Amino acid sequence: MRSKHQISILTVPLIATSVSASQLFVPFYGTSANGFNGPPRGWNSFGMQARAGTSFVLNQNDVQSQCDLLNATAGYTLCSLDSGWSGNGGDQFGRLVPDTSVFPNLTALADRLHSQGKLLGIYALPGALSGDAGVTVEGTNIKLGSLFDTSQPSYNLRQTFDFSKDGVQQWHNSVVNNWAAIGVDYIKLDFMTPGSPAAGENLPANNSLAAVAYHKAIQQASRPMRLDLSWKLDRNTAADFFLWRGNADGIRLDQDINNQGQSTFLGFNTVQRAIEQYRSFINQQEEDPARQGTPIMVRPDMDNMYTGNAQALTGLSDVQRYTVAIHWVGAGANQITGSDLTQLDTLGKELLYDSEFQSVADFTNQYPMQPKNPFGTANPGSQASEQLQAWIAGPDTANKNAVVVLANYGPDQGQGGFGTNLQGNQLVNISLSLLGIAEGQPNGAPGWSVRRVLGGGGAGGPDHSDIGVATSVLASNLGPGESVLYFLTATN
Ligand SMILES: *[C@@H]1O[C@H](CO)[C@@H](O)[C@H](O)[C@H]1NC(C)=O
Ligand SMILES: *[C@@H]1O[C@H](CO)[C@@H](O)[C@H](O)[C@H]1NC(C)=O
Ligand SMILES: *[C@@H]1O[C@H](CO)[C@@H](O)[C@H](O)[C@H]1NC(C)=O
Ligand SMILES: *[C@@H]1O[C@H](CO)[C@@H](O)[C@H](O)[C@H]1NC(C)=O
Repeated sequence: MRSKHQISILTVPLIATSVSASQLFVPFYGTSANGFNGPPRGWNSFGMQARAGTSFVLNQNDVQSQCDLLNATAGYTLCSLDSGWSGNGGDQFGRLVPDTSVFPNLTALADRLHSQGKLLGIYALPGALSGDAGVTVEGTNIKLGSLFDTSQPSYNLRQTFDFSKDGVQQWHNSVVNNWAAIGVDYIKLDFMTPGSPAAGENLPANNSLAAVAYHKAIQQASRPMRLDLSWKLDRNTAADFFLWRGNADGIRLDQDINNQGQSTFLGFNTVQRAIEQYRSFINQQEEDPARQGTPIMVRPDMDNMYTGNAQALTGLSDVQRYTVAIHWVGAGANQITGSDLTQLDTLGKELLYDSEFQSVADFTNQYPMQPKNPFGTANPGSQASEQLQAWIAGPDTANKNAVVVLANYGPDQGQGGFGTNLQGNQLVNISLSLLGIAEGQPNGAPGWSVRRVLGGGGAGGPDHSDIGVATSVLASNLGPGESVLYFLTATN
């Protein structure tokens, strides 16, 4: 391995010279459709629901026990219920309401969360419950069933709408107004198409207009709410992307990353996949001339951030847990953990709540990281999928700060996209010029003071340390699955 690196390093300066001339397009988020300037932070129940050997049940007591432990001081405020909280039939207006056998008083849970400075999230699927076809939409004399698009398949007890009909928006308004009265702050709208894997259902082909209807309903509701669209949305059609961007605050990039029915939450194979999905998402924003210089607005949801628990429960080694935290935060993605909050270990608390890492998140929540291939890859400076990867977030408009992440994802476990199998420790090395921040470049500076905030500990020493001024390269030896995150400040 060592000799392979020496050889590749010697060959790169020629390539570097040609790549370094290219301009850095700095992606940025801006304000989302429902008015949010950062991603949600909190907890979601799904990992706990899906894990084998847990005593956790999706009910009011167990959710309250978890969410009482959320650290609101660190901004971890969202308590997000996943599938299973709502009834299989609606109320007298066909509104989607709690299953009172598991959530006897959702208002009481919302009140308690709000008194702690926290927020309540619920989960819904596009469309209404088919069994409610005979009810009348609140405030109208329109039968709910007359609004259904029966050319589309029924799925999961539901029927999607003919969105052109009078009454469809009124139904969405009635549902959201009722949630607002309960105290709901966040809606996860799952099984959105085009994109969502069918998971045994026969899904409507295109539910994009449900996002528009929920957005309009949120706009007229009595409390602010976020709208997060799920799962693995198909980002190939610009029309859908711009529609989601104009109506929702988050979009899920990937399938679920958690193990279903195993005693651990997840494996690193799906972490590799989620990072690869983010790479393609951010490249699309950064490379499309129609998107350059415009805010992305809609935040990526990389699925729950499972960093809080020790290896035996999480299913990831400690360096892999760092890699999850660094990438989810570096992406400015949703920071919603799926960990068991009753069993956070010391590292788990650091990765979730550390205040210096939080201030890095404040930066990357505005300026998300984009890939730049390091030395030794096929095309240093390009944005391809690589086992050894570098990323840059920013610089900000003042050209004062940036974030750089270096990573060795380890051998591809099948879905990483890079397909290589480099074993053991690897040197990840990239020049300031390839990152686009060298002196003389539009986003450059003579030097950058480098603070190692998290990671790289296998070879590089402790977290939270100043490691000097970089004037040419950033490099770190990283083991399989290991990452390091640096916060840079221009020296001029
Ligand atoms: C990183 O690459 C540069 C350019 O090839 C080289 O000069 C430098 O020695 C490398 N850094 C390390 C730590 O090997
Ligand atoms: C909560 O977060 C704050 C701020 O990040 C931190 O100082 C504190 O230690 C955290 N509390 C717990 C119990 O982890
Ligand atoms: C639900 O809890 C609230 C307090 O948050 C209370 O005012 C209300 O009476 C409760 N409803 C029922 C049906 O118990
Ligand atoms: C889905 O529907 C939206 C809204 O009508 C439309 O803009 C978009 O092009 C459709 N997507 C596909 C893939 O047909």
